[in-house]
Amino acid sequence: MTDATAPTLFTWEFASDPYPAYAWLREHAPVRRTTLPSGVDAWLVTRYADARQALADARLSKNPVHHSEQAAHAKGKVGIPGERGAELMTHLLNIDPPDHTRLRRLVSKAFTPRRTAAFEPRVQELTRGLIDAFAARGSADLIHEFAFPLPIYAICDLLGVPAEDQDDFRDWAGAMIRHGGGPRGGVARAVKRMRSYLLELIHRKRADLGDDLISGLIRASDHGEHLTENEAAAMAFILLFAGFETTVNLIGNGTYALLRHPVQRALLQDALAAGDSALLDTAIEELLRWDGPVEIATWRFATEPLTLGGQRIGEGEPVLVVLAAADRDPGRFAGPDTLDLARRDNPHLGFGHGIHYCLGAPLARLEGRTALAQLLTRLPDLQLAQNPEDLRWRGGLIMRGLRTLPVTFSAD
Ligand code: HEM
Repeated sequence: MTDATAPTLFTWEFASDPYPAYAWLREHAPVRRTTLPSGVDAWLVTRYADARQALADARLSKNPVHHSEQAAHAKGKVGIPGERGAELMTHLLNIDPPDHTRLRRLVSKAFTPRRTAAFEPRVQELTRGLIDAFAARGSADLIHEFAFPLPIYAICDLLGVPAEDQDDFRDWAGAMIRHGGGPRGGVARAVKRMRSYLLELIHRKRADLGDDLISGLIRASDHGEHLTENEAAAMAFILLFAGFETTVNLIGNGTYALLRHPVQRALLQDALAAGDSALLDTAIEELLRWDGPVEIATWRFATEPLTLGGQRIGEGEPVLVVLAAADRDPGRFAGPDTLDLARRDNPHLGFGHGIHYCLGAPLARLEGRTALAQLLTRLPDLQLAQNPEDLRWRGGLIMRGLRTLPVTFSAD
C-alpha cells in the first residue's frame, strides 16, 4: 500500500476514534515521521515491540534542554506548561538519570503502595459522597460531577492539602485540563498559583510534620540526602499533574466502554453483585489497554542517532510512543480490538514501561476500581443519555478523554 492511502491524523474524526488510523500506521509505517498540528515533526512509534523498546531506551532522553535546540523548540511549541514555571518542571517526567534515579528513590520512600492501600477507605468515602450528590436526580454528567472531582480531592487528601484549600486546587486543575496543557495564560497562571501555594504549604508542614504525603516527602531521606523545598514542590506538582487528568480519563473512558459493551458490562455487574471482585481487577487492566487515558507517552528526544523499527532517527529528533496503538497490536494481543474484561495475558503499556513507569499506578487502580464498582452497584441501570457520535473528545496530543459523559439512571 502506498502513502496515498495513509490516514489523516489529528482531525476531529481521528480524535473520536484514532484506532483505525493507528492500525494503518502499525501495518504500513510503524515508525513514521509525522508533522504534528503544532507544526513540529516527530517520529510516531506504533508497534508494541518497538514501543516497549523505545520506552526503555536510555538514548531517548526526557530532557529536551541539553540535547538540541530542535528538541527544546519542539517541546516548547507543544506547550507542556513548561519552561515557564521552570522550577516546578524539574520533575520526574522531564529528567534523566542520575537525577531521575535520586528523585524517584526519594519519592518512592514516601509514596509507597502501603500508603495507597491505607487510603482505600477514604477513596471509598469520597466516591460515595460524589454519587450521593446526584443519585436522586436520575441524570448526571459523569465527567464533571464524578470523574473530575474524585482524583483531585483524592490527591489533595493524600498530599495533605487542607479541605478548605481543595477547591482552589480544583480550579487550577480545571484550568490546566481545559487548555490541554497549552501555553496559554490560564495555565501559566494556574501553575504559578499552585507553585506559590505548594511552597508555602511545604514551609508550614516542615514546622509541623504530619502523616500526609507532603510531610513524607519532606522527611524522606536517602544516604542523608533530602528533597529541597523546590524539589518537594515539583514532586507534589507532578503527582497532581500526572495523577489528575489520567484518572479522570480512566473513569470516563472506562465507564463509556462499559456502557457500549452491554454483555461485558453485565458480566462485571453480576460478578460485583455476587461479591466477586476478581473480574474487576482484570477489567481495569483491560480498560487501560482497550481505550486507556494516555494515548501517547510524554516526549522523548534522541541523544544520539539510533535505529528503531528499521528507521534511522537523528540526534535531537523527537520520538512519540503511541501507547494506544501499541496496546492494540495484533502482534502482541489476541483479538486486540475486542474488549474482553477477563483477558489474562495483558501486559499493556497504559502505565508506560521502564524507569518512568507510572509511580501512581497503585492509586490509579484503587480509584478506578472503586469508582466503577460503586457506580455499577449503586446505579445498575446506568445508560448513556447521548448518541455516541455526538460525544466530544478532548483534542490534546498526549491524553485521550471525553469532555462530557451524560447519563441517566433510576434515581436511588
Ligand atoms: C508516569 C499513566 C495515574 C503519577 C506515567 C506514565 C504513564 C502514566 C503512561 C509514563 C509516561 C512516559 O513514560 O512518558 C497513568 C495512567 C494513570 C496514571 C494511565 C491513571 C489511570 C497516576 C497517578 C499518579 C501518577 C494517580 C500519582 C498520584 C505518575 C508519575 C509519573 C507517571 C509521578 C512519572 C514517573 C517517572 O517519570 O518516574 N503515568 N498514570 N500517575 N505517573 Fe501516571
